[in-house]
Amino acid sequence: MASGSGDGEGNAEGGSWRLVGPAAVLSSKRCRLMHSPLGRGSDVCLFYVKGEFFAMDARCAHSGGPLCDGDIEEADGVLQVFCPWHDYDFDLRTGKSGTSLQQRVYEVKLEDGDVYVKHASRLSLEPFPAEKKS
Ligand code: FES
Repeated sequence: MASGSGDGEGNAEGGSWRLVGPAAVLSSKRCRLMHSPLGRGSDVCLFYVKGEFFAMDARCAHSGGPLCDGDIEEADGVLQVFCPWHDYDFDLRTGKSGTSLQQRVYEVKLEDGDVYVKHASRLSLEPFPAEKKS
């Protein structure tokens, strides 16, 4: 009800903290796809791995593979997601890949049991209706 204050719209630089939802609910799945009204290229994956949330662009920096569907593995304490299309690896924390590609990652914070992601646009677990063009 009182969420979504509507502030920060258009604050594209560092983004603003976007309320995603309760951690207790979001932690029940390994990955959620969060939709952005800016379009598919701005959708974000919210991973929950080993008790921690990570946010990363949902489409692989290589050719747009769906990282939410990727396998997650830990090697030497580094958590990585492997793109389901060509198996490129991305560090969940930094977005770095052994392939030298860089996936964009976003800050995540927990406040009063809710998960927030810092992003340029609002984020929703439901797709946004097609934006009206005037
Ligand atoms: S699209 Fe992800 S590795 Fe190719």
